[in-house]
Amino acid sequence: MRNKVTKAIFPVAGLGTRFLPATKSVPKEIMTLVDRPLVQYAIDEARAAGIKEFLFVTSRGKGALEDYFDHSPQLEQELRRQGKDELLEILKSTNMDSGEVAYMRQHKALGLGHAVWCARRLIGNEPFAVILPDDVIAAEKPCLQQMVEAYEETGGNMVAAMEVPADKASSYGILDVQEDMGSMVSVKGMVEKPAKGTAPSNLAVIGRYILSPRVLKNLNKMKAGAGGEIQLTDAIAQEIGGEEGVYGLRFRGQRFDCGSKAGFLQATVAFGLARDELKDDLRRFLHEVISVEKAAE
Ligand code: G1P
Repeated sequence: MRNKVTKAIFPVAGLGTRFLPATKSVPKEIMTLVDRPLVQYAIDEARAAGIKEFLFVTSRGKGALEDYFDHSPQLEQELRRQGKDELLEILKSTNMDSGEVAYMRQHKALGLGHAVWCARRLIGNEPFAVILPDDVIAAEKPCLQQMVEAYEETGGNMVAAMEVPADKASSYGILDVQEDMGSMVSVKGMVEKPAKGTAPSNLAVIGRYILSPRVLKNLNKMKAGAGGEIQLTDAIAQEIGGEEGVYGLRFRGQRFDCGSKAGFLQATVAFGLARDELKDDLRRFLHEVISVEKAAE
């Protein structure tokens, strides 16, 4: 029997400079898509996949993120008094139980690999998931759940994968495919942010991983890679050809890059259109805006 994946690391130490000045005082992960903070989408996805322990790697200035997970008895009491049961349920669904969530501090911004390594003592010798909350994935079956199911069949190290336009490959970790089995590929190489024109494919790593604890050992001795940072991609790549191997899963769903303004806006529109109470007005508004724009051309 394969070990169940019950722990997930959420690297949330980034400065979020692309969203300045908002991120001067609001952690990027608290910025809201419709009415839920980005991080809530990541937690919900993890929970749906069977994750029981939520490990946040944070940094200075992320206090609001920790507060967000606290219970809010006063607010709950007030909503109860006002008979606002629906809101009360929404609020309760975001509560984290004591002991379910842990925070570690990444003291220096040395890269994603380093951030994940900061959580090593809480992982121990089990497979674990990593979720990058910037990558928001709308899917009928949550992406991490798709990966856990595939992992139960295949084992190994698994990354979420998606085809990207060739001119965007240098923004991602890129897979060199050994065997393409349709939704799953086996991997014979991985390169973080390949220089333009050198990418081995256009199959990119998206921010969901299920990893063997050996990757944490690899990170112990990892040297700086692309961009002078310690890269998770490089530590995973060391497992290629090993006992467990590395696989990519072409997940079913739509990914939004909420680390960029354009992606964040697109996600806002898409998630707004998915809400019964918003969709009619929003659709009408979008039609109007587009027709005014067309008329002006
Ligand atoms: C990180 C990973 C990269 C991956 C990307 C997905 O890069 O290092 O391999 O393709 O997330 O969003 P970042 O976007 O943090 O530069």
